[in-house]
Amino acid sequence: MTGSTCRAMANALMSSTRASAFALALLAGVATTGCGGAGDEANNQAEAAPIPMQEFMAHVINYSAANLWKWQGWTQGPAGEQSLFPKTDEEWEMAEGAALTLSELSNLLLLPGRGLDDPNWRPRVLAMRKAAGDAAAAAERHNPDALFEAAGRLQESCAACHYAFAPHLEPPPSDAGGAAAQANKQ
Ligand code: HEC
Repeated sequence: MTGSTCRAMANALMSSTRASAFALALLAGVATTGCGGAGDEANNQAEAAPIPMQEFMAHVINYSAANLWKWQGWTQGPAGEQSLFPKTDEEWEMAEGAALTLSELSNLLLLPGRGLDDPNWRPRVLAMRKAAGDAAAAAERHNPDALFEAAGRLQESCAACHYAFAPHLEPPPSDAGGAAAQANKQ
């Protein structure tokens, strides 16, 4: 199959279907069944090498969490305080998708060789995954209070792990924070 045929197929799929999971699955099929070429092997190797933790955090975890956090809370606009919570079914879907993406991504932090070799690592990852999963459930129920609570807990789960494993990022702000950092290390 030539590159242009592949592009034509992908474009046809894009325009003839809504961006549904089904369409994405079809596109993935196009991508893996014959739209490759000489670059395939190099591409596969690139995919196998995990990016460094710092990059993973900044560009995968933080990116994904920001995608969720933008759907909750309030902001000060020209017309006064504005709610950021989803207002339509479609927006609730987006919030749920962001939360589930983060929840699934957290599993990558549990892969051998990806996380830190420390007994406190896994519980810190699981706390993040639980908060993200609860945020997804809240979005599915269209429940702003529950989404707000889970999003706050998510933020705490990031901070708790950073206190423990990246203290240069989250220096304890006060004595209370110091105690939390200590508790984390135990
Ligand atoms: C299980 C532990 C753990 C959890 C949970 C965690 N992080 Fe991190 N994070 C780290 C570690 C370790 C680093 C330091 C990586 C380095 O510099 O090598 C880091 C670094 C970062 C950085 C700095 C990256 C840079 O460019 O220096 C950001 C931003 C970040 N994390 C965001 C988040 C957010 C947002 C969450 C929660 C949604 C989160 N992290 C949850 C362990 C964690």
